[in-house]
Amino acid sequence: MKLSFSLALSASFASLAASECITPNGLHILDQSGARTGIEQALLSGQLPFLFLPLAEPFIAELVKAETPIQFRLAQIHGSTVYHTAAKYHATALDIWGNDVNRYCTEHVDESYLKVHEEVATFLTFYYSAITLVPSSKPKLDPVFSMFGLDPSILESDDGPSTPWGMAKFVVQEMAVTVVNDGWNADGKLANEYNALSYSDFDYIGANKVAYNRYSVNPNLKQTGNFKFWPWQPLVESDGLGYFTKQEHVTPFAGFTGRLYGMSRDFYNSVTSPAPPQYDYVVEAQDVLETTRIMANNETQKMVLEYFDSKFTSILPIQIGWSIASRQSNFDYAGPYQGSKLMKAQDWQPHVRVMPHSEFPSGSACICTAFSETLALLSGSNDISVPVTHTFPAGSSKKEPGLTPSTDITVEFKKWSEITELCGESRLWGGMHFRESVSAANEMCSGFINSVVDNSKKLKNGDASGSFASKDQAIEVSPKRKAGNNKGRGLRSG
Ligand SMILES: *[C@@H]1O[C@H](CO)[C@@H](O)[C@H](O)[C@H]1NC(C)=O
Repeated sequence: MKLSFSLALSASFASLAASECITPNGLHILDQSGARTGIEQALLSGQLPFLFLPLAEPFIAELVKAETPIQFRLAQIHGSTVYHTAAKYHATALDIWGNDVNRYCTEHVDESYLKVHEEVATFLTFYYSAITLVPSSKPKLDPVFSMFGLDPSILESDDGPSTPWGMAKFVVQEMAVTVVNDGWNADGKLANEYNALSYSDFDYIGANKVAYNRYSVNPNLKQTGNFKFWPWQPLVESDGLGYFTKQEHVTPFAGFTGRLYGMSRDFYNSVTSPAPPQYDYVVEAQDVLETTRIMANNETQKMVLEYFDSKFTSILPIQIGWSIASRQSNFDYAGPYQGSKLMKAQDWQPHVRVMPHSEFPSGSACICTAFSETLALLSGSNDISVPVTHTFPAGSSKKEPGLTPSTDITVEFKKWSEITELCGESRLWGGMHFRESVSAANEMCSGFINSVVDNSKKLKNGDASGSFASKDQAIEVSPKRKAGNNKGRGLRSG
């Protein structure tokens, strides 16, 4: 399996002139006389419409090692970069900034040559963007690369964007520059000049003169008893090797300083945060104990909640395929392999890890609402045309491998909204959230995605008003809402 690349062919591009189209070259599959290899044949006959798919699984496996907000930032950057390459082959699509892209010339170019060029460029962009964003993915992706008869050093060549590898390099490097200032403190420099820690919290005054101050727990709210509002509290985690850590709130700034893509700052600021829940922690605790006791004896619930715990190994493949008061209690879920047991309340743990961020409202429920609504909008219906099924093979549980489930379990989704419901509900089964947190997130996040979907359609049609963001924009800060006036801080994550 070898693709024949011609490295010497192309001219180098110092910069791309806006009005001119680029003559695609670099590949000489079509010039070759003699028999074509299997991959060449497959590419030419359109049998491999998504050459990059074999890269997706090893990349996602590395990506999900990051905390959830970071996973989404990286996936957003990665997806946009691959989109940029694809847009160069499209008749009208603009880049996410709303700029006219340097398109490849389509006149006098063999259609199937262009198709293969696009497949290879998209593959190379996926690869190069992945290893740039998540360097630890390189050893996992390189074998896929060589499977296609390709050598990663091809990306070190100085061939310009007329070649698939030159274009991959160009779009990845262009994107790298535009995300340095995206408000996520990925290089840690917003907090510390030296010995900076990636994604650490910081104090900042935005270009719009609005200040963001790093997260701190309000000591006045720290007392126990019957209080109305409880700030986020760190949990103790263990690496199983004797090292214990207390969580810091993960990227508490993201909702205030992160660049918004596809929606305006005004719209975002206008979204009403749900009123802080008036939790009666005694009642809530009993509810959590009861739901997790039921889950402890229900294999379907265990598998579904593990499944939805990582959005990148659940809803993403679907898309590709179409805490507690310390008091004694009669609680029953004793942890992996233990089934339900009577235990002390302080021994109780949810089935999967509780993320280091606010409990209310549920971030998972928000993501799943946005996901289902996006797919319903894009597909034009809440009904899934081809019902999505997922089978959990016997013993495939990550928390109870070899034991759960005892037999294969298959779940089926016929409506996109069913995915939202199950995804949200499963956070309750596992004991990661109180009930109100899920319904509040579903409500708050419904409709969030409309402008993003509208804008993406505009971009595809060449309408620059659909621009997702300005790449030159300095960090803009969204005002924080004061706790106690129904708009408490930290309410955006959870
Ligand atoms: C397990 O939970 C699922 C989802 O809530 C439910 O449909 C099913 O009936 C439960 N199974 C048993 C045996 O209770």
